[in-house]
Amino acid sequence: MSVEIDRAQLIRAAFAAREYAYAPYSGFKVGAALLAENGTVYTGCNIESASFSPTNCAERTALFKAVSEGVRKFAAVAVVGAKAQGADDALVTSPCGVCRQMLYEFGGDDLIVIMAKSETDYREMTLGELLPLGFGPEKVL
Ligand code: THU
Repeated sequence: MSVEIDRAQLIRAAFAAREYAYAPYSGFKVGAALLAENGTVYTGCNIESASFSPTNCAERTALFKAVSEGVRKFAAVAVVGAKAQGADDALVTSPCGVCRQMLYEFGGDDLIVIMAKSETDYREMTLGELLPLGFGPEKVL
């Protein structure tokens, strides 16, 4: 049995996580909420650095929190990002290439990616659609 995905709840959690974004350089604040198969939601925000390259995206922050606590199976992730935050975001934010690859490591083709402007306005794709022919652990292990 797979975990039930409450999209609105996951998007709300991503918006709440975005409040903690540390993005003084880009001004682009991102929040993510990653739903594990065990029902736990791990949240993350982007964390930037004065030397720029160590910056960590919201999606990877959430993923690393989960994996570092022994959780490796995921059903869905919600992402919200914007330069200027108003009532609703103007555009959806899709995970960057590095985050797609890292999510693929643990979520595979079937991970649901919810890219939201608001709780009710979102675009949904599978990770397999966002990262076709992904290179994953089954090739190497
Ligand atoms: N960023 C994320 O956190 N997630 C994404 O999916 C896209 C980009 C962050 C990285 C950087 O702090 C800022 O957004 C601008 O690129």
